[in-house]
Amino acid sequence: DWTMAGYRDEAIRRIREQVGDGKVICGLSGGVDSSVAAVLIHEAIGDQLTCVFVDHGLLRQGEAEEVVTMFRDNYNIPLVHADESELFLGALKGVSDPETKRKTIGRLFIDVFQKHAAEVGGAEFLAQGTLYPDVIESVSFSGGPSVTIKSHHNVGGLPEKMGLKLVEPLRELFKDEVRALGRELGLPERFIGRHPFPGPGLAIRCPGEITREKLEILRRADAVYIDQIRRHGLYDDIWQAFVAILPVRTVGVMGDSRTYDYACALRAVTSVDGMTADYYPFTHEFLGETATRIINEVKGINRVTYDITSKPPGTIEWE
Ligand code: XMP
Repeated sequence: DWTMAGYRDEAIRRIREQVGDGKVICGLSGGVDSSVAAVLIHEAIGDQLTCVFVDHGLLRQGEAEEVVTMFRDNYNIPLVHADESELFLGALKGVSDPETKRKTIGRLFIDVFQKHAAEVGGAEFLAQGTLYPDVIESVSFSGGPSVTIKSHHNVGGLPEKMGLKLVEPLRELFKDEVRALGRELGLPERFIGRHPFPGPGLAIRCPGEITREKLEILRRADAVYIDQIRRHGLYDDIWQAFVAILPVRTVGVMGDSRTYDYACALRAVTSVDGMTADYYPFTHEFLGETATRIINEVKGINRVTYDITSKPPGTIEWE
């Protein structure tokens, strides 16, 4: 009989077999996938593993602290908190093409991981929380209109020059299975239930050029939106919810003066595995209340729209 406990034991056996007595670094993103991968690998090889949490300056409000605290409080896994926001945001300056943004981020991730692989005394392996849908999507989309839809994912092998071998213990699993495995490994429920967050982070929720100003506005609007969703008890019914800041300013009126601020789009979808998705049918009341809160509480936004595109034809993210 297939059980998650059996899967865990088998995965641990395979990790030990692959890694031997080598060192592994694991990129932590704060999402469920990389957290589960990290804990699983730690069970398999203990302190041969070092986790690297790369803060690329594209995280949500409070996210870095939350992830680092969760790991330090619950696990004895060596964890490096790498603040690389200058590096990433510097390289992204003036870049507005979505594919170039992703490639830039992917390249810098590789540089940063290589640096840390050397710093832990020569890690030979890089662990990632790649899931089955990531493997499929990067195959099925190749040759299509967006050739490297998840180019930073490195699914299918890392660039040669990196010289690190991949450890991807979740490659056969779907998201719901990863969550079950996370429970099996005893990860806190609050962590297991988190919405997925993409590796390129807020970069793909900020279409066009990324600026620190836009990122700050986006973080604040996103925090209000998620707070609304939690207050209304909807968080667990939704696969993913986030705000995208649009690359356009529009005219509004506040008191007796005109404003000229950014428009944003709210996104919320239901999905089983992220490969297809339906937009979430919020009530008009919820949407109205949320729009009012964002406009009142977030300086820099004066217009709120709701994205009612399902996937396909839309993607979940905006880039
Ligand atoms: P899309 O936008 O392709 O997203 O419909 C499907 C799921 O994948 C996540 N996503 C990514 N995750 N790196 C990631 O780690 C990426 O480049 C990336 N692009 C999309 C997205 O958040 C959704 O859960």
